[in-house]
Amino acid sequence: MHILVTGSSGLIGSEAVSFFDSMGFRVTGVDNNMRADFFGEKGDTTWNRDRLLATCSNFTHHDLDIRQRQTVLDLFKKSDFDLIVHAAAQPSHDLAARRPFDDFDVNANGTLNLLEALRQHAPKAVFIHLSTNKVYGDGPNHIPLTEFETRWDYADPRFAEGIGEDFPVDNCLHSLFGASKLAGDILAQEYGKYFGMKTGIFRGGCLTGPHHSGVELHGFLSYLVGVAMNEGPYTIYGYKGKQVRDQIHSHDVINALWHFAQDPRPGEVYNIGGGKGNAASLIECVAMIERESGKRPQLTYSEQNRIGDHICYYSNLAKLKSHFPHWEMSYSLEDIISEMVSGLQKL
Ligand SMILES: NC(=O)c1ccc[n+]([C@@H]2O[C@H](COP(=O)([O-])OP(=O)(O)OC[C@H]3O[C@@H](n4cnc5c(N)ncnc54)[C@H](O)[C@@H]3O)[C@@H](O)[C@H]2O)c1
Repeated sequence: MHILVTGSSGLIGSEAVSFFDSMGFRVTGVDNNMRADFFGEKGDTTWNRDRLLATCSNFTHHDLDIRQRQTVLDLFKKSDFDLIVHAAAQPSHDLAARRPFDDFDVNANGTLNLLEALRQHAPKAVFIHLSTNKVYGDGPNHIPLTEFETRWDYADPRFAEGIGEDFPVDNCLHSLFGASKLAGDILAQEYGKYFGMKTGIFRGGCLTGPHHSGVELHGFLSYLVGVAMNEGPYTIYGYKGKQVRDQIHSHDVINALWHFAQDPRPGEVYNIGGGKGNAASLIECVAMIERESGKRPQLTYSEQNRIGDHICYYSNLAKLKSHFPHWEMSYSLEDIISEMVSGLQKL
């Protein structure tokens, strides 16, 4: 099996490369290190590319920009891909407003370039698109909430297990990032529904793991753990620090994608995140990191929340689990934090 991973030096892409390489598959990675251009030095993913090149047995890397339509078409024409994991993206909600053309060119047009190359040259391959819960915009903020001592939670029993795939995407504030990702998401659905190709769309909650080049604007938990370990300054934006996110380890994400790849349903959409069991608020995460490491960041609080930021979001995993009953999560939130802390302690 030959697998193409876009964004192969990023968190999700690099996990996909290691996962499929360890299964003995041939893996081609595409990443132009645009994360460094987006986020500066701390976003540089070269270290991760080099780690993969040093540790994988059958991995080839291309410094290719998915915005370059002809180059993408040429790559597909000369290759024989069976599975594509599309994880290249401009991933930040806040950055998109500053770089609207780059955001849309990567997230929407880049996705179209890949899908069309797939249709022309590898129509039988499985294509997995990494989407985001930001396609639901700030809609989840309109669900009535209960305030607890350290977190918000849904007061409406219809969301007791989290947000499902039938949650509306209209009449809400998406941010430009949410809009460009929704465009890519719908395109990927359409190549499944209209052309009958094997596309799957996975809308992520908080995807995390030790191989994230975490920065303030993207990679919440990895950034928070990094700052805490240095006892550096960390600003909480709004919601009293009780905003809830569901964390899932990148390994568990790729394992779910692999289940889909073996039994694909054209154009199907799944929410994927840590779910209710791995959901925690920002201040709860700080406390967990402190329990694990004895260290905490110097917190400052800004009343102003980030525009459109979710107050409480966790993914309802019922559909994913019902389609793939053998998939299960192997990392609890404690495991994720513990792995990050011990990784940083070894540096
Ligand atoms: N990490 C999360 O919490 C999260 C949550 C929801 C959805 N997602 C989605 O999952 C996917 C992967 O996210 P991630 O956290 O691994 O992001 P990441 O930034 O770690 O990885 C993305 C990679 O894509 C590369 N890239 C960017 N533009 C490119 C281009 N034009 N051509 C080639 N490569 C390019 C970057 O250099 C980077 O290495 C994205 O689609 C993101 O929107 C992530």
